[in-house]
Amino acid sequence: MSVILAIESSCDETSVAICNNGKITANVIANQTIHENYGGVIPELASRVHQQNIVPVVQQALIDAKVSKKDINAVAFTRGPGLLGSLLVGVSFAKSFALALDLPLIAVNHMHAHILAHFIEDPKPDFPFLCLTVSGGHTQIVLVRDYADMEIIGETLDDAAGEAFDKTAKLLQLPYPGGPLIDKHAKLGNPHAFKFPEPQIKGLDYSFSGFKTAILYFIRDKEKENPGFINEHLNDICASVQYSIVQILLNKLKKAAKTHGIKDIAIAGGVSANSGLREALQMLAKEQGWNVFIPAFEYCTDNAAMIAIAGYHKYLANDFVGQDIAPAARMIF
Ligand code: KG4
Ligand code: ZN
Repeated sequence: MSVILAIESSCDETSVAICNNGKITANVIANQTIHENYGGVIPELASRVHQQNIVPVVQQALIDAKVSKKDINAVAFTRGPGLLGSLLVGVSFAKSFALALDLPLIAVNHMHAHILAHFIEDPKPDFPFLCLTVSGGHTQIVLVRDYADMEIIGETLDDAAGEAFDKTAKLLQLPYPGGPLIDKHAKLGNPHAFKFPEPQIKGLDYSFSGFKTAILYFIRDKEKENPGFINEHLNDICASVQYSIVQILLNKLKKAAKTHGIKDIAIAGGVSANSGLREALQMLAKEQGWNVFIPAFEYCTDNAAMIAIAGYHKYLANDFVGQDIAPAARMIF
């Protein structure tokens, strides 16, 4: 029997989940809207809002799961990577909660948890599989051999795919986080209206910084030539940028699958909520004979259910940490 309380606070979502014998029975997420006004997450504000949210979110999760504090067997938390001030709130709360109730602590790597979100619901992938993990801070192709045995076989050398979405949105004067808004406008536009260069990077790595600069110049030049260009062509620009990012992501994934001879392919992280990526992956899967695993929308962006399921597998493996554990803004995979 195990009831695990899990806490996620790595960026701008305060989330708490309960996992009861491997089943998620609560997943409460408090989004922080304060950052919309600033075009990006302000770390100082994020940690303050986590402080305000953490207790009510824990209480709501206990209510939703119909359990009390004395039913909890272990406390899992995101140790990193993430914003240090944000992580500190979740880690300190987890340690205090565990100390007060004399419970074991489980430290979870946020990027592992995005991948293990595939074990929340059926169908679950079999090991080994490849996972394209695409979020606001990371773009990785991971060879997943087991719950605790994962190897990064390709990653971005500079910006993440989520940053490419968010920075393009900023150039288009759309509010933060721009990824979902680009997705929304892209649905109404022509993905072949404009062409952007595909970065020529060797092996399985990615790069988005040159791509981002190409978009910056494209928007600047077009707007100079024809003031009002952005507004007039917003849907087509969003559709074309999204199409290019998705092609860049999937071309390397195709290469990785060939190189490693693996046909079980998953996507994870905030950008895996992108409808263009989800559709293009399904099409590619048919062409390549892949079995694909695409998480439910609620488990793509940051959530504590993924921390709870990762914590559950660590609990089964007796993988606990002591009260001397500290958050890690950068964390070895
Ligand atoms: O995994 P996540 O919630 O947080 C991090 O760990 O970074 O990912 C957030 C990222 C942001 O860059 C956001 O714009 C992007 O995921 N995102 C999307 C979509 N939904 C979220 N990007 C493109 N299309 C979407 N539908
Ligand atoms: Zn994340």
